[in-house]
Amino acid sequence: MKKIQIAIDGPAGSGKSTVAKEIANRLNILYLDTGAMYRAVTYIVLSRGQSAQDSEVLKNVVDQIEMELTPNHVFVNGKDISDAIRTPNVSQNVSFVAMDAYVREKMVELQKKIAGDQSVVMDGRDIATHVLPDADFKFFLVASSEERAKRRQSELSQKGYDIPLETLIDEIDKRDKLDSEREVSPLRQADDAIRVDTTKMTIEEVIGFILERIDSEFL
Ligand code: CDP
Repeated sequence: MKKIQIAIDGPAGSGKSTVAKEIANRLNILYLDTGAMYRAVTYIVLSRGQSAQDSEVLKNVVDQIEMELTPNHVFVNGKDISDAIRTPNVSQNVSFVAMDAYVREKMVELQKKIAGDQSVVMDGRDIATHVLPDADFKFFLVASSEERAKRRQSELSQKGYDIPLETLIDEIDKRDKLDSEREVSPLRQADDAIRVDTTKMTIEEVIGFILERIDSEFL
C-alpha cells in the first residue's frame, strides 16, 4: 500500500473519533486522536488543582509531561489516564487549554513527530488546516448540535454519567464557539476538505462514504 495520510476534523460529537479509529483499523494504519492530547494536558492541570486558563501553569505542565499515545490509550509519565480524560470536568475545560498558543505549538510538534513518515488517520480540529496540510484525504464531519448532544449523552450514560440533554447541548454549543472563534488554529473546514453531514447517517454509513472516496491506488 502507498503511504496515505487522512485528516478528519469536526466539532464535538460529529463522530470523528469512532470513524477515524475504525478506518485506521480497516486500512491497518496508525490512528492518532489529537483531542486526547489536549484532554491529557487538561486532566493534569485540573488534577493539580490549577487553572486551565493560566498560561504559566499550562507552559509548566506541557514542559514537564511525557506523553505516550496508542490507538486506545493515553499515558502521561507512565500512568494510564485514558478514562480520566473523558470526564465532564475535562470536557468543560479542554477548550481553554486548546486555545493556548504554546500548548498548541508543542502538541502539533508531537503530532507531526508521531505521524512521521508513515500512513496515518488523524482526527481533531486543525488537522487538515495545520497539522497535515498536505494530507491525501481531508474530511470535515458535522451534525446538528442536538444530534451531537444525544450521541454524547448515550456515550456518557454507558460510563455511568446521567446528564440532561439540555446541559449537553449547551456545553457543545459553548465548546464549538470557543473552538471556532479562538485566534490560534480555529476549527474550520479546509478549502479542499469534503464535508459530511452525519446527522442522519449511521457510523457504518460514514465509514463507507469515506472509504469510497479513497482512491484504489492507496488500498
Ligand atoms: O470528542 P470530542 O470532540 O468531544 O473532543 P476531542 O476531539 O477529544 O477534543 C477535545 C477538545 O480539544 C476540543 O473541543 C478542542 O478544544 C481541542 N482540540 C483542538 O483544539 N485541536 C485538535 N486537533 C483536537 C482537539
